[in-house]
Formats: sequence, structure tokens, C-alpha cells
Amino acid sequence: MEKIRSSEITPEHVYLSRRRFITGLGAVAASFMLLGGCGRRGTPSDESIAAFCASARAGRRIDDLGDPLTDCQSVVSYNNFYEFTLEKEDVARLSRDFRTSPWTVQVGGLVNRPQTFAIEDLPRRFPPEERIYRLRCVEGWSMVIPWLGFPLNKLLKEVEPTSRAKYVRFESLYDPERMPGQRSRVFDWPYVEGLRLDEAMHDLTILASGLYGKLLLPQNGAPLRLVVPWKYGFKSIKSIVKIDLLEEEPVSLWMATAPDEYGFYANVNPTVPHPRWPQSSERRIGETSRRRTLLFNGYDDGIASLYQDMDLRKSF
Ligand code: MTE
Repeated sequence: MEKIRSSEITPEHVYLSRRRFITGLGAVAASFMLLGGCGRRGTPSDESIAAFCASARAGRRIDDLGDPLTDCQSVVSYNNFYEFTLEKEDVARLSRDFRTSPWTVQVGGLVNRPQTFAIEDLPRRFPPEERIYRLRCVEGWSMVIPWLGFPLNKLLKEVEPTSRAKYVRFESLYDPERMPGQRSRVFDWPYVEGLRLDEAMHDLTILASGLYGKLLLPQNGAPLRLVVPWKYGFKSIKSIVKIDLLEEEPVSLWMATAPDEYGFYANVNPTVPHPRWPQSSERRIGETSRRRTLLFNGYDDGIASLYQDMDLRKSF
């Protein structure tokens, strides 16, 4: 497969604009880049990637709109995972040896039955199913990915949220020893995301442990990540260790980093431009021309009603 260059996928002004913004966040940004971002370029033909895709679940499958799956190699070699590097093509290489066992997910906060789940117990308690979803990154590129996962609502029902619980907060692993990007203070680690409880309970919201019929590779957020298909990709937090039910809206990493640019809701919305680039179209990885971005990423059925009393321009 030909190497995908970020500049080919995302319009250059957008790509450079977001990169410039991120790298301009602090003086330590330069040291972040030295930690890995500017090293040898990632090689998508890397053995682990080739082996993963060679045995990936084959077959021509499509999503609910009839769009074909994004090529496996692209899904596992073009990633955003800032705990490792800001360079999309280098995430796979820098995360290759990331250990995801032992791993536990602690679920607590405003619940009657707080529990710590061992990762190996999850498939038995919550059998994974395949969900083919579009993933639309806020940067303007998108993919169609066959996830293996289970509805988050099944796990939440197990812990019994109390009547005070209104929001769910998710936290990724914080371990600078294992995640070199966290040695930089560009971001206030750990990566945190949040959902309103009704969004979290929606059947489309899943916790994924695999894609293309196989367990997740580290670069895609192993061993467990969130997938919320009607929101920009940054809401789909990777390598989750903690889930808390809260009364107040949590502050995500992106809200803390750039509150004018990233709101709590982050619903895909072609009519609300990012302050520095339009969101009306996107580049589907593997395609040459841009396509129109759809409201709620095309998942408007049953999603629009979650926001019927809200001004989506203000609550972006
Ligand atoms: N989760 C964590 N912990 N760290 C990250 O940097 N990047 C987000 C999201 N989840 C990110 C994360 C962004 S910006 C996107 S677009 C998706 O992961 C990308 O997921 P993928 O690499 O599996 O396609």
C-alpha cells in the first residue's frame, strides 16, 4: 500500500493549521517532537501491520449508507494518539510494544455498584458484536471501520448509575514511561473525554476491543476504547482505564486545551465550522475527491432527538 501522507488526506491549510496550533501550545512542544515525532517515519508495511491485515476479517462489507470499508492498512497505520506522538504515521511504530495486559477498567462515581473490570473478563460478560461505523475526524478526514464492541449501556447498567448521575467521564491511561508523548506538557494529561448520560446510554455508543475481526492494535486504542459515531473522532477516547458517573459536565482534554475550538458536544455538524477551517466536506481515506459531511455523520435517526431543545451552534 502506498504511504498516506497527512498532507494528502487533510487539506494542507487545515493540517498545518492544527499542527501549528498544537505545537505552538507551549515551549515544551519542541521537546515533544524530539521524543518521537521527528524520528524515522512510520512504515505502514511494518510487519505487525501486515500480519494484522493479512488475517483481518475479509469480505466486501459496507456501512448503513452503502459506503465500503476503509482499507485495513490505512485504519491501522494512520492514527491520532497523542500519548505517543503528534505524527499520525509514527503512532503504529511508537506504540508497537505498548503492553495492554494486565489491564483493568475502574467504573465508579455516582453508581450503586462500583466495579473494577479485568479486561479479560469483558468479552464473557459483554460479548462483542461487529459494528461498521464512519469515523469523521475534526481535521476533515474520515474512514469506515468495522469495530468489534459492545454497547456501553450494558456496562453502565451493571454498575447502576444513581439518579444524580447526569454525565459520564472517561480517562485514558497515564503512564509517561510507556507513552512517550506524555513526557511533554503540551497537554494536561491524562486524555479525558465525556458524554451526557443519555448519549452514553444510546445503543450506537460502544466500547470497542477490536476491529476487522481482530483485537485492537495499540495504535487504535487497545485494549478498550470508546466509539461514538455521530461525534468527531476525538470524542472516541482510547486505552480507557477509568469511567466515572458525575453530576456535573466533565472538562475534556480538548476543552481544557482550546475551549474556543472544542466544545463538550462535538457533534459532527457541517454547518458549524471549526474556527480555523470549514466542516462542510471531508476526505474519505482512499478516495480522491472530497465528499459532503453529513449532520451527525449521517446518524441522524434517533440522534437528532437527543438535542431537540438545544442550539447546536452554541453547544458545539
Ligand atoms: N484517545 C486518546 N487517548 N488520545 C488521542 O490522541 N485521538 C482522538 C481519538 N481518541 C486520541 C484519542 C482522535 S483526534 C481521533 S480522530 C481518533 O482517536 C482516531 O482514532 P484512530 O486512530 O483509531 O482512527
